[in-house]
Amino acid sequence: MKKDDLSTDPYKGVRDFYPEDQFVQDYIFDHMRSACELFGYEEYAASILEPAELYRSKTSDEIVNEQTYTFTDRGDREVTLRPEMTPTVARMVAARSREIPFPARWFSIGNFFRYERPQKGRLREFWQLNADIFGVPGIEADAEIIALAHAVMRHLGAEERDFEIRVSDRRILENIYDNVGVPADSRAVITRLLDRRAKAEPAAFEASLAEALDSGEKARAFIDELDRTTSSAFLENLRTTLEYFDVRNMVVDTSITRGFDYYTGMVFEVFDTNESNRRALFGGGRYDRLLELFGGASLPAVGFGMGDVTARDFLEAHTLLPAYTPTTELMLAVVEPEAMTHALKLAQDLRREDIAVAVNLSGKRVGDQFRQADKLKVPFIVAVGSKERDSGRYTVKNLITGVEITLPADRIAEHLFSNLG
Ligand code: HAM
Repeated sequence: MKKDDLSTDPYKGVRDFYPEDQFVQDYIFDHMRSACELFGYEEYAASILEPAELYRSKTSDEIVNEQTYTFTDRGDREVTLRPEMTPTVARMVAARSREIPFPARWFSIGNFFRYERPQKGRLREFWQLNADIFGVPGIEADAEIIALAHAVMRHLGAEERDFEIRVSDRRILENIYDNVGVPADSRAVITRLLDRRAKAEPAAFEASLAEALDSGEKARAFIDELDRTTSSAFLENLRTTLEYFDVRNMVVDTSITRGFDYYTGMVFEVFDTNESNRRALFGGGRYDRLLELFGGASLPAVGFGMGDVTARDFLEAHTLLPAYTPTTELMLAVVEPEAMTHALKLAQDLRREDIAVAVNLSGKRVGDQFRQADKLKVPFIVAVGSKERDSGRYTVKNLITGVEITLPADRIAEHLFSNLG
C-alpha cells in the first residue's frame, strides 16, 4: 500500500456486508418478518435521523450522554442517528393517535447507531427487529409480545431448549423502592446499576448501590428484599397465559431490570442456554407512559428489540446458519465470441420465464468460466457456442451433482424449476 492510498477498512465498529454476509442478513430478516406477519404485525419504517431532543432525559442517560452520534446540521439543528426505535415509533403513533385503530401491531427492521466500545455482540452500527403493540394495558399483550419473540427464535431454527425467556416486572422494583424509601429521583440511576449487576462483583455492586443510596444500610435492605422476591402474581399469571401460546421456556428472574427508564411493567430478556454462550440475546418490555411525552393521551405499549449481531452469533453457535447460495440460478458460458449475441438473447428469453441468469462476459476459456460459476456457487451452467446456436439444443449442467441434460431452449426454465431447492 502506498502512503496516500485510501484504506479499505470500514469505519470502526461497523460492518461491510459482502454478498455472503448479506445472504445471512437477509435470511435473518426474512425469518423475523415472517414470524411478525403470522402474528398480525404490519411493517413500518422511519429515517435514521431524529432531532436530538427526542432522546434527552427520556430514555437512558447512559445511552444519550455517552453513546449517541449527535451532530449539528447546517441549519444549526441538533441531530442524532437513532440509537433505538422506541422513541421514534412512540412519536409516530402519538402523531396519529386519533386515526390509528387500536390495538396497533407494528414491526420494523432497521439500523441503529451507538458509540460503544466494539466487542463480541456489541458494535457501533447494528440492525434490530422492533415489534410493538399499542393500546392494550392487559396481560394478553405482554404474553403476545413474548410469544412473538419466541416465534422469531423458532422461525430461525432454535429449539425451545436452546433459549430461555427471563421475565421480571418493573413494578416489583418500584415496590421495593417504596419499601426501602428510595427517593423518586435516584430510582433511574439505581435501576441502571441493577441492569449491570450480573456483570459486577457482588461487593463492588453493593458499594456502588450504597453510594447511590447514600446509605449502606438501605443498600443491604434493598438487596435482601430484591433477592427474597422470587415472583409475583402477575408473573405467574403471565406464565400460565403463555402456555396458550405454546411457550414453555419462560422463567421468572427478578434480577432482570433492563437499562431504559421508560419501562413501567413487564420486562424480559432472551438468553442462550448454551453454557459457552450464556448471554442476553435481546429484550423488551412494557412502557405505558412514554407516549404521554408527546402531549396526547397516555397509551399503553409493549414490545421488544432484537439485534442482528447477537442473532447471528446465536445461529452460528447452534450451527443454524444457512449455507450460502447465490440468487443467480444459471450462468451462461460463452464458448466463442461469435456466440455472445446469441447467449445474450437466450438469457433474456430465460429471464422472461423468471430464471435468474448471468452471462459470463469475461471472454475467458470455457473451462475457466465453468470454474468461476463453481466458485460463485451458481447451481447450473450452460455452454453457448455456435453448435448450440445452430442445433437449438443446450446442455444444462448441474454443478452440484454433475448431472447433465440436453434440452431445447424452451425446456430449460422448466428443468431448472423442477431441480432448484
Ligand atoms: P436494547 O436492550 O437496548 O433495547 O436493545 C435490544 C437489542 O438490540 C439488544 O438486546 C441487542 O440484541 C441489540 N443491540 C443493542 N445495542 C447493540 C449494539 N451496540 N450492538 C449490537 N446489538 C445491539 C432497546 O433498544 C429497546 N428500544 C427495545 C424495545 C422495543 N423495548 C420495547 N420495544
